[in-house]
Amino acid sequence: MCGIIGYIGNDNALDKILYGLKRLEYRGYDSAGISIIDDKKLIRYRSRGRIEDLIEKIKDKKINGTLGIGHTRWATHGKPTDENAHPHIDCSGKISIVHNGIIENYFELKEKLKKKHKFSSETDTEVFAHLIEDFIKEGLENAVKKSILKIKGMYALVIISSDEPDKIVAARQGSPLVIGIGESEVFVSSDIPSFLKYTKKAIFLEDGDIAIIKKDKIRIFNNNKEVKRQIRNIKWTEKQAQKGGFPHFMLKEIMEEPQAFEDTLMGKFDERYGNIKFENIDIMKLKSIENIRIIACGTSYHAAYVAKYLFEKWTGINTQIEIGSEIRYANPVLGEKTLIIIISQSGETIDTIEAFKNIKNNAYYSIAIVNVVGSTLSRMLHGVIYTHAGPEIGVAATKTFISQLAVLYLLALCIAKLKNKINIKDIKNSLRILRKIPSLIKQILSNRRQIEKIAEKYYNHKDFLYYGRNINYPIALEGALKLKEISYIHAEGYPAGEMKHGPIALVDEKVPNVFIAPQNSLYEKVINNIEEIKARNGIIIALTNRSNNEMEKKANDIIYIPDIEEDFYPLLAIIPLQLLAYYIGVKKGIDVDKPRNLAKSVTVE
Ligand code: M6R
Repeated sequence: MCGIIGYIGNDNALDKILYGLKRLEYRGYDSAGISIIDDKKLIRYRSRGRIEDLIEKIKDKKINGTLGIGHTRWATHGKPTDENAHPHIDCSGKISIVHNGIIENYFELKEKLKKKHKFSSETDTEVFAHLIEDFIKEGLENAVKKSILKIKGMYALVIISSDEPDKIVAARQGSPLVIGIGESEVFVSSDIPSFLKYTKKAIFLEDGDIAIIKKDKIRIFNNNKEVKRQIRNIKWTEKQAQKGGFPHFMLKEIMEEPQAFEDTLMGKFDERYGNIKFENIDIMKLKSIENIRIIACGTSYHAAYVAKYLFEKWTGINTQIEIGSEIRYANPVLGEKTLIIIISQSGETIDTIEAFKNIKNNAYYSIAIVNVVGSTLSRMLHGVIYTHAGPEIGVAATKTFISQLAVLYLLALCIAKLKNKINIKDIKNSLRILRKIPSLIKQILSNRRQIEKIAEKYYNHKDFLYYGRNINYPIALEGALKLKEISYIHAEGYPAGEMKHGPIALVDEKVPNVFIAPQNSLYEKVINNIEEIKARNGIIIALTNRSNNEMEKKANDIIYIPDIEEDFYPLLAIIPLQLLAYYIGVKKGIDVDKPRNLAKSVTVE
């Protein structure tokens, strides 16, 4: 979850590292630090708090040097303090390391190392600096290779030494590391936006890789053998990774949803003929699948939940959904010819990765739906479908959710077509609906001031309940998750019909009840649920169709949504719920892009 960056080149390393750290701050933001080798001396500064606190601390220092590392932390072992902030150093003060992940056997290593080495932090990471020190006579490269053999767990490690100022050594096991290759300069980082301004050429390290990085040469070893890794061209632009005039990334990313939806679907279908195609997918395999399992966490799990309704209704195939952190410990019995779908924005969520490893051998065919090109999950499955949402910097998933749904709707249609469960007229019609979604989302976005007013009215309330029926139930879950994450308000999502089985006990005049209430085949039932809450003085905020005239009599506040066919409602209903969470968070003075305790890419278990 932490953000790490290393730089070697001809420019001032500090400038490039601080720039990179700001781009990585979404990965963790409780403390930060840098180590630079300046005139063969290692200089280190660390600060608890945000990158800005670190910058404040070093603003008057003269720090030169063209080699360095930096880190922004999401604490696992030891509180967010200056002492626990990375980089860590050995006793000689010559070796410095940054780390993302967890060294699981750090305690026993520390007990042994303590006899010879003085520790100055509570972190698991520091043991690695001391381990290297024990082998450093053999040179940094060998010392790292030998030390790696002693540790267990997940890591991305980046190491420098003032005795060898011509190189960075980097190692990956389970936590992401990507190398950015510029002109006589190289970056090594947790994520692409940290160097996108300088280069679009990248190598994604794989588990077990150790890279020896010089400014003009990169060598990568795995199992002591030199290996070649593909250099990829990144399509994301620098502009996409900046706020572009918006007060927050989250709002910018919500506003980008029409584009994200369009970009994700681009080139994948032709509604004139009802054709659907996915690169990197073996369509014939999809034709013969008999079961579907979808695995994901958080918001991606909610996308999976929507997909369950779609797949079962449109394709008639039994579809089960699983939370990554749970299914990884189970022994799931996969049905005949099971298609496994993994959904992950980052492609690095460890719970999802481990869950897939647990069942991959029994998969008939597997597809990853990920946003980050080259990420771990994009390389682990039989096929991959990228959501072309662009970089998502705000910690809350917004535009990537809509892009995941875009892929899942199309995939459901594709499988339904292959299985002859849908006629060509209906396929064309569904594709036409998907085509018009971006313009309908734009209509909702243009009405955002109204949602802001609703946020102003309710931001002081302590609990919110969200309800939906059928395919809109997962949207209630996602609406509640967004509110929790961004505003720290307690919120729960329920199937509207489940309300009377317990949650109704929570209803009083202080609790806003957010209903997704489209005028569809279940409308009357949802209206009954609304009445039940009104009868108990509950506050009603309803999302309903623009053409609905009767809701005014029933709800305290109404968010109108353009009319759309029943199955496609989630694609629109989520937008106002994201906006509502955003405006409530802002009203409460919360840093919505970096809410407390969260990190964008969850690489610990
Ligand atoms: O990168 P992933 O999609 O695998 O991440 C899964 C969850 O950690 C993520 O969706 C999380 O719930 C977000 N903070 C949601 O806003």
